[in-house]
Amino acid sequence: MRFGIVGAGKMGSEIEAVARDRGHDVVWRLSSRENPEGRGITVERAGSADVIFEFTGPASVTPNLLALAARGATVVCGTTGWAQDLPRVAEAFDAGGGALVHAANFSVGVRHFFDLVTRAARLYPPAGYATYLVEEHHAEKRDAPSGTARTIAAIFEMETGSSLPVTSVRAGAIPGTHRLVFDSPEDDVEIVHRAHGRRGFARGAVWAAERIAGRKGVMEFGQLLEEVQRRP
Ligand SMILES: NC(=O)c1ccc[n+]([C@@H]2O[C@H](COP(=O)([O-])OP(=O)(O)OC[C@H]3O[C@@H](n4cnc5c(N)ncnc54)[C@H](OP(=O)(O)O)[C@@H]3O)[C@@H](O)[C@H]2O)c1
Repeated sequence: MRFGIVGAGKMGSEIEAVARDRGHDVVWRLSSRENPEGRGITVERAGSADVIFEFTGPASVTPNLLALAARGATVVCGTTGWAQDLPRVAEAFDAGGGALVHAANFSVGVRHFFDLVTRAARLYPPAGYATYLVEEHHAEKRDAPSGTARTIAAIFEMETGSSLPVTSVRAGAIPGTHRLVFDSPEDDVEIVHRAHGRRGFARGAVWAAERIAGRKGVMEFGQLLEEVQRRP
């Protein structure tokens, strides 16, 4: 497949490496300098790629997605910190006839972690355990709490009706750690997901690109995974 990448940063580089390993062509990459307010997303660029990855930052993601939607593009977006804009982005993709798969976390290990959170939230709080989440990321990560932490908190709230205290640490080069703790006077239990690098996120994003090509509309990564798990 032919891929375009908006965002020439750490994830953009990792996606390019995984894409090439899997036999895809990266036909262009756009940096922030070439793309103020999404203006680098031209008809020519959008038309030359089967799938376009958007991994930039919270300040640029919405103009980029609206520009991609207007071009009818097929997009995999992993940028975090734009959940409030999802309704108008989804409307734009529906109007433009393209497709978008988005996720705050494209790691399959984190997807299974979400299932563990659901199960644990049903067991420990009713047994008297106090619960909190600590998420740790590298010093350059701009949004806090992380999109993954927000998802974990939402799952916890849905299961228990209580909000989840979240602490964010931004330091060093940590690729991403989420530690959910259930604490009681007698003991404590932790469920930890620790990314060893960015490869797992990039592999999930490329996997999503391989499956979204040719589709229309907006979906979350979990929906794509569920479809595959349901297949006979
Ligand atoms: N979903 C997942 O699985 C997952 C995993 C890891 C990270 N993320 C998220 O993905 C995003 C990128 O992460 P990262 O680690 O790659 O960050 P990064 O290394 O800072 O890279 C972001 C890149 O986007 C560029 N950029 C900013 N505005 C742009 C624009 N309008 N057009 C084109 N490029 C633009 C930045 O350029 P400048 O430096 O010149 O501004 C930078 O090179 C973040 O939101 C992060 O939270 C998601």
